[in-house]
Amino acid sequence: MADDTTDTKSSNQMWGGRFASGPDAIMEEINASIGFDKKLFAQDIRGSIAHATMLAHQGIISSDDKDKIVHGLNTILSEIESGNFEFSRQLEDIHMNVEARLATLIGPAAGRLHTARSRNDQVALDFRLWVKEELEKTEKMLTGLIAAFLDRAEEHAESVMPGFTHLQTAQPVTFGHHCMAYVEMFGRDRSRVRHAIEHLDESPIGAAALAGTGYPIDRHMTARALGFREPTRNSIDTVSDRDFAIEFLSIAAITGMHLSRLAEEIVIWSTPQFGFVRLSDAFSTGSSIMPQKKNPDAAELVRAKTGRINGSLVALLTIMKGLPLAYSKDMQEDKEQVFDAAESLELAIAAMTGMVRDLTVNTARMKAAAGSGYSTATDLADWLVREAGLPFRDAHHVTGRAVALAESKGCDLAELPLADLQAIHSAITDKVYDVLTVEASVASRKSFGGTAPSEVRRQIAFWRARN
Ligand code: ARG
Repeated sequence: MADDTTDTKSSNQMWGGRFASGPDAIMEEINASIGFDKKLFAQDIRGSIAHATMLAHQGIISSDDKDKIVHGLNTILSEIESGNFEFSRQLEDIHMNVEARLATLIGPAAGRLHTARSRNDQVALDFRLWVKEELEKTEKMLTGLIAAFLDRAEEHAESVMPGFTHLQTAQPVTFGHHCMAYVEMFGRDRSRVRHAIEHLDESPIGAAALAGTGYPIDRHMTARALGFREPTRNSIDTVSDRDFAIEFLSIAAITGMHLSRLAEEIVIWSTPQFGFVRLSDAFSTGSSIMPQKKNPDAAELVRAKTGRINGSLVALLTIMKGLPLAYSKDMQEDKEQVFDAAESLELAIAAMTGMVRDLTVNTARMKAAAGSGYSTATDLADWLVREAGLPFRDAHHVTGRAVALAESKGCDLAELPLADLQAIHSAITDKVYDVLTVEASVASRKSFGGTAPSEVRRQIAFWRARN
C-alpha cells in the first residue's frame, strides 16, 4: 500500500458534488495514478497554459483570470522542478494535483481553467506530448549509434571476418560490411520513429470528454501553440486512441530486438573461443571468484531489456483490445508500460553506443577464422562456372568433392595440390588459387550492397550523407 493515504473520508474536492462520502482506501489506491503520472507535470502545465490562453483569446474567460492562471501554473512548474511540491494521492492524478494547487495559489479563477475540456482530452494531450519528446530523443540516440557504427565500418572496410549462416562459417565478409548491416537496421528503426512522430503530430485538446464542446474554442490555436501540425479530427477517437503509445512500444520492441541480436553477437565474439572483439574495461565486469574473467554484462542486460520492452507492448495491446469507445479507466494503465520501456530503450541504446565505440577488434583472429571452414568454397564453384563453363550445379558438386578431400587431408582448399584438384576436374588450372584467398573472395563480391571494400565504402558514403 502506498504511504500517503490520509484518513479523510470527505468526497473529492475536484468532482465530489454528488458524492456524500469519500472513497474506500482500496478504491483510492487502485484509482490513483499520481505515483507515476507525475512524470507528465511539465506537459500538463504547458497544455493548461495553451488552453487558458486560447480561452481568453476566444473571450471564454477574462484575460485577467488567464493572467492569474498562467502565473499560478508557472509557479507550480517551478515548485515541482525544485522538489517543493507535495503530491497527494487523494487528488488521484497529475491533472487534479496541479489544479488543486492552482486553486490554493490564485483562488476562484483556478476553477475557470477546466472550461471546455475534460481530463480525457487533457491526459491524451499530456501523454502525446511526452511520447513525442521521447521519440525525438530516441531519434537522436539512434543517430548517435549509427554514427558509432559508421566510424567502425570505415576503420574496418577491409578487415576480413567469417560471414555466418546458421552460425556456421559461410563466406568471408568484411567487418565493415557487418557493421553496415546494423546501420541499415537502426536506420530503419529511425525512420519508423520519424513516421511515428508524423502520425501523432495532432493535438487532442478540445475533444473534451468525448463529444467536443459548445464553447467557441479554437483548436487550431492550441494545436499551433503546442507545436502540433493540426488538431485531431474526431473527438471520440481522440480520447479513445492510444495508437501513439502502442507505436512507440512497437518501435521500441523492434529496436530492442535489433539491439539484442547485436548484444548476442558481442557476447559470442568476446568469448576466448571466438576472440573477435575485446570489450573495454568501461563496458565489462569482472568476476568476484574467477580472476581471469571479463564478462559482457552490459550486452547481456541489453539482451534482457528487450524482454521487458516486449512485455510492455503486449501489456498495452492487451489493455486496449477490448475497450469500447471512448475513454475507459483501463487506459490509465498505459503510462507505466511506456515509461518503463522508454527507460529501458534509452539505457540499451546508450550502452550499445558505448560498447561499439570502445570495442577492440582483433583483425588477425577474424582473418584466421575467415579462412577456416572452407569459406571460399563458393569462390571455387564460381571460378568453375566462369573459367571452365560448368553449370553452377555441376560446379557445386565438383567443389563439394574438393572440400571432402581437403577435409580428409586436414587442410584448407588453398592448400590442396593442383594435381589433386585436377584429379577432381581436369579444367582446373593454377589460376584457381587466386580466388581461394579470403581477400580475393571478399574483393570479388562487388555486386551492389555486397561485401567488397569498394561497396562497403559506397554504403558508408550513402549513410554519412543521411546521418
Ligand atoms: N488519470 C487518468 C488517466 O491517466 C486521467 C483521465 C481520467 N478521466 C476520467 N474520466 N476519469 O487516464
